[in-house]
Amino acid sequence: MASDSIKSVLVEDRVFAPPADFAARMGEVHVPDMAAYRAMHERSIRDPEGFWGEVARGFRWFAPWTRVVEWNLPDAKWFVGGTANACFNAVDRQVEEGHGDDVASGWEGEPVGPGGPEVRRGTYRELRDEVARCAEALESLGVRKGDVVTIYMGMVPELAVAVLACARIGAPHSVIFGGFAAQAIVDRVQDADSKVIVTCDGAWRRGGVVPLKANVDAACERLPGVRSVLVLRRTGTEGAMKNGRDRWWHELVPAQPATRACEPVDSEHPLFLLYTSGSTGKPKGILHTTGGYMVYVAATARWTFNLQPGTGQVYFCTADLGWITGHSYIVYGILPNRVPTVMYEGAPNFPAEDRFWAIVERHKATHFYTAPTAIRSFMRWGDAHPAKHDLSSLRVLGTVGEPINPEAWIWYHERIGGGRCPIVDTIWQTETGGHVITPLPGATPTVPGSCTLPMFGVDAAVVDEHGTEQPANAGGLLVIRRPWPGMLRGVHGDRQRFVDTYWSRVKGMYLAGDGARRDSRGYFWIMGRIDDVLNVSGHRLGTAEVESSLVGSKLVVEAAVVGMPHEIKGTGVAAFCVLHPDHAKDAGDAMRRRLMEHVAKDIGAIARPDVIRFTNALPKTRSGKIMRRLLRDVAAGKETTQDTTTLEDFGVLAKLRESDE
Ligand code: WTA
Repeated sequence: MASDSIKSVLVEDRVFAPPADFAARMGEVHVPDMAAYRAMHERSIRDPEGFWGEVARGFRWFAPWTRVVEWNLPDAKWFVGGTANACFNAVDRQVEEGHGDDVASGWEGEPVGPGGPEVRRGTYRELRDEVARCAEALESLGVRKGDVVTIYMGMVPELAVAVLACARIGAPHSVIFGGFAAQAIVDRVQDADSKVIVTCDGAWRRGGVVPLKANVDAACERLPGVRSVLVLRRTGTEGAMKNGRDRWWHELVPAQPATRACEPVDSEHPLFLLYTSGSTGKPKGILHTTGGYMVYVAATARWTFNLQPGTGQVYFCTADLGWITGHSYIVYGILPNRVPTVMYEGAPNFPAEDRFWAIVERHKATHFYTAPTAIRSFMRWGDAHPAKHDLSSLRVLGTVGEPINPEAWIWYHERIGGGRCPIVDTIWQTETGGHVITPLPGATPTVPGSCTLPMFGVDAAVVDEHGTEQPANAGGLLVIRRPWPGMLRGVHGDRQRFVDTYWSRVKGMYLAGDGARRDSRGYFWIMGRIDDVLNVSGHRLGTAEVESSLVGSKLVVEAAVVGMPHEIKGTGVAAFCVLHPDHAKDAGDAMRRRLMEHVAKDIGAIARPDVIRFTNALPKTRSGKIMRRLLRDVAAGKETTQDTTTLEDFGVLAKLRESDE
C-alpha cells in the first residue's frame, strides 16, 4: 500500500484547535466541543434508531415512517413506510414556512466581460416556480414516476432546476458530467435505459464552447431508445434540432403553469443514479433513494459546515453538479438549510486566476469548499491572486476528493482562511452519499492531512481482511460496520457487482476501497485507493475504461493504464501501449498525441493520458496478469525493487525503460 504517504504523514504533528472566537463569529455552534461530539457519536452508534429518528423529525414527511431502519445485510431501508419528497424539503418547504423571499441560490456565468460576469440570484419562490414548470414540461414529454431522466448540461442554474424537477415528480435523474464525451453518454443512457435527455446547445469554458448538443446527437446515433431531448439555449451554438425528438427549453418550460406539486414518494423510492468508476468494466450506476439520502446530506451539511439560516451565511462550493459533491453539497444538502448556495460556470483560471476569489468577495461567501488539486493550482498561480480580494467574509473552509498534502493545507489555512477559518477535510464517496469522516469546525482540533473522526452514525474502522481492527498507525482497509442513512442502495442492474464490490472482501462490513490508518489519537489518515481506480484531480477514473478506449482506437492491440505521481493532479494517467502491427513503425510523438486526443474525445479530457509509452509486450505474470505494480514503478521512474522472476519475458522490462520519453 501507499508507503510514501505513511512517511509523509507520520511527521505531521501540528494541531490546530478550533479558533476561540468561532462561536462569536458563527452565532450558534451545533457541536460546540469534543465532549459534545463524543457524546453524540456514542449515542448515534448505540441507539441509531433514536438518534436518526430525532434528526428525521426535523424534515417534512407526507406520511410518517414506521421504523427508522431495517437492516438485512447488505440491504438497508431507512425511514421505512414513510413518504416524502426531496424537492419539497429543499425548496417548497421554505416557501410554505414563510421564507419564499430568501435567496436560495447565486450563480456567476462565463463569459466574463469587461463589466464583470453575468450574476443571477434566485429566491426560494422563484426556484420553486421554475422547478414546477420544468417538472410539468418533463411530464409533457412523457416522463413518469420511476423513469430515469439523463441530464447532460453545463453549470447553469437550469441544471439544478432540472435535477429538482426530476425529484419533484419522482423520476430518478442521472446527471452526466459536462466534461464527458459521446461514449460516456452512450454507456450511461443505455445502462439506465433512459429515454429523455436534458442538455444545452453548448457550455462555456475558458472562452470556448463545449459542444454538448453535438455530443448528444452523436451519442443518439447509437441510442435508438431516446425519445426526447430538451435543449437549453446557452451559447447560441448553431445545430439542427431533430424534428419530433428535440424541444427548446425556452419554448416549452416557460409556457407551463407553475402548479405541479411535489409527488409523495416512498422513502426508498429511487432519487438518482450517479455513474462512477470501479476497478473493472464500465462505470456503475450508484443508486440513492429518497428518505435516507435527503436526511443524511442535509444533516451532515449542517454539522460539517455549521450552517445557520438567517445569519448572513453564503456557501460556495466549486464542484460540478456532475459529481456527487455537487448533488449532495450544492443542491440536496444545502437548500434545506436555507443558506444561499453559489455555483459558477467556467473554469477557476479564466479570465484570470482570481476567479474564485472574485466570487467569494462579490457574494461575501462565508463557506468555501473545493478540492486539493485546485488548492495546489492556486499555490502555483501565486499569492497575489487571493491577496487582491477581500476574503474576510470566510468562516469555514472545506476540502474533498483526495488526501490533502500538509503543505497545501497550510497554504489554504493561511492565504485563504487568514489563519482564522477551520478546515474541514471531508472524506466520503459517491456511494456514501455524504460525509463519513470529517472534522466539525467548532469542535475538532485538526491536523493537516488527516480527515480526523467519523460523522455521527458512521461506525468507521481500519481493519484487516478478517475484519479485525488494526492497532494505531498500522495500515489496513477502511470499512463502515453498520448502515447509515446516506449509503448506496445498490448498483443499477447489477446486484452481484454491488455484493462483490462492497460487501464480500470483509465479511459483514462496507468496504470503501481505500487504505487507511488511525493514529494514536484515533484520527483517520486516508492512504489512497486499494483497487484499480485512479483519483485524477479528485475525479474517479477506472484504469479499465482508459484501456478499453485505447484499444477501441484500433491503433493499439493491448494497453495497460496505471497512475503516476503528478504535482497538481495528485495522480496522473500513464498508459503503456502495444501498437497494432500495421502501426508499429509509427511509435512516436505524433502517435502519442493521436491516442491522447482519442481518449479525450471518447471519454473526456480528464481521462487524457499524461504519458504514453510504447512497448512490444506488457509484463505479465505466468498466469497472464499484467504486473501493474511494476508498471507503476516504471511510470513513477522508480528503480524496480520487485521480484521480477515471474516475468514472462525479462526483455519487456528493459524495453519499457528504453521507450522512456
Ligand atoms: C477519495 C468524492 C482522502 C477516496 C466525494 C474516495 C478522499 C474517493 C477524500 C471517492 C478526502 C474523497 N481525503 N481521499 N478528503 N475525499 N477521497 O466517489 O479515495 O468521486 O474513495 O466521491 O475519493 O470519490 P468520489
